[in-house]
Parts: sequence; structure tokens; C-alpha cells
Amino acid sequence: MIIVSPSLLSANFLNLEKDIETFNESKAQWLHYDVMDGNFVPNLSFGPQILQQVNTITDKFIDVHIMVVNPLETIDYFDKCRIDILTFHYEAAKDLQQCHAIIDKIHSKGMKAGISLKPKTPVELLKPFLHKVDMVLIMSVEPGFGGQKFMPEMLEKCDFLHNFRVENNLNYIIQIDGGINYETGKKAVEHHCDCLVAGSYCFNNPVCFNTAVDALLSLEKED
Ligand code: DX5
Ligand code: ZN
Repeated sequence: MIIVSPSLLSANFLNLEKDIETFNESKAQWLHYDVMDGNFVPNLSFGPQILQQVNTITDKFIDVHIMVVNPLETIDYFDKCRIDILTFHYEAAKDLQQCHAIIDKIHSKGMKAGISLKPKTPVELLKPFLHKVDMVLIMSVEPGFGGQKFMPEMLEKCDFLHNFRVENNLNYIIQIDGGINYETGKKAVEHHCDCLVAGSYCFNNPVCFNTAVDALLSLEKED
């Protein structure tokens, strides 16, 4: 079954509680929480204080995506938050050794660990980490903003990750983030994605939030 992770970045912050209630009542399994530092990406979003409050009104799986220059330190800022999976960017690690250290630190705090890639970063660079991560997040837009256009070239990375997973008997989740709607989500699922992040498609859907979530959940996986 496909996992749908609506991105809170597109919520209405003047009515955040109402939007989270809508999310809670939907069939979406995860909540995607984008942390941006205005340095790794050209935008600022939210941090641990808001997540601590969000934690009090949802029991669903919390999927945090940190787009920051210092992931090793940033992990500690979230010590008081309930996070199920924490994903950092490969490009933000200083070297391969630090990349391993970040994954180990996330695991040592009892969370699952995800690793993400910007569109221009080749996916093969992740090979040394694929045996120890729980998820790989493929960015299908330049990270920083919701509402951008899906980059279909990124689907090749998903195929690589799927083949590598089968060949090496691994079971990390393949997540995709950026420009996901029913049409692009369908392509992503055809290219073996397990988890679809969708911000504007869910929170700004002209019909309603549930219509978007149900449309994405209806996408069938063949493998
Ligand atoms: C972008 C974020 C995304 C964003 C997706 O840097 O990582 O999670 O919220 O928004 P949409 O689905 O609108 O492209
Ligand atoms: Zn994200």
C-alpha cells in the first residue's frame, strides 16, 4: 500500500489546528514536516517548538525532512519532539564519515533514519549508506518551496534505488517529494516509490484534502 505524507508547509498557518484535524480525519498515514534554515535552502520554515505543539494534536507517524547545513547538530534541537523518521540531506554532510555519524545518531535517539538528495546529486553516491538507512527521499523539485513543477528525470533515481534494493535484499522505503499530484504520483508509483509527499496538492486542493489523499492512496503498487 502507498504511504501518503501531506507536507505541512502548505497548510494554513492561521488555522493550523483545523488543518491538522482535517489531516487526522483523513486516511493519510504520515505527516511531512519540512525544516528549512535559510542557508541550505533559500527559505525559512519552522523548527522544534512548533513540532512539539503539533505532536500534542496528532498521533500519526511524524516524518521530518531537515534541509539545514548542520544536520548533526540540528538533530539535538528536536530532542523534546516525537519524531518517527528523520531525513537529512547527503549534501549537508561534511564527508562520508559524517554521513555515517548522522545516520547513527538518528538511530541512537530511537528514530528511523532517512537520507535525501537534491535533484542535481547523483543517486549512486548513496551506495555506501543504503544498507543502513530506513528511507531514501528523492527530491523531485529543488528543495525550498512548495508548489513547484515535478521533474520527471528524477524517476530514474527511483528505478536505481528499487533495483539496488532488490539486488541487495534491502528494504528501505523510497519516498518522493516535490510537485506530487495524482498524475505525477502515478508515475512515481510506476517507478517504485512507496511514499508520496504532497503539500499543495493536499492542503490547497480545490476539491478537498480527502479527495487528494484518497486519489494518491488509490495508486497501486505492482511490486
Ligand atoms: C520542498 C519541500 C516539500 C514541499 C512539497 O522543499 O521539501 O516537502 O512541501 O510541496 P509540493 O507538494 O507543493 O511540491
Ligand atoms: Zn519535504
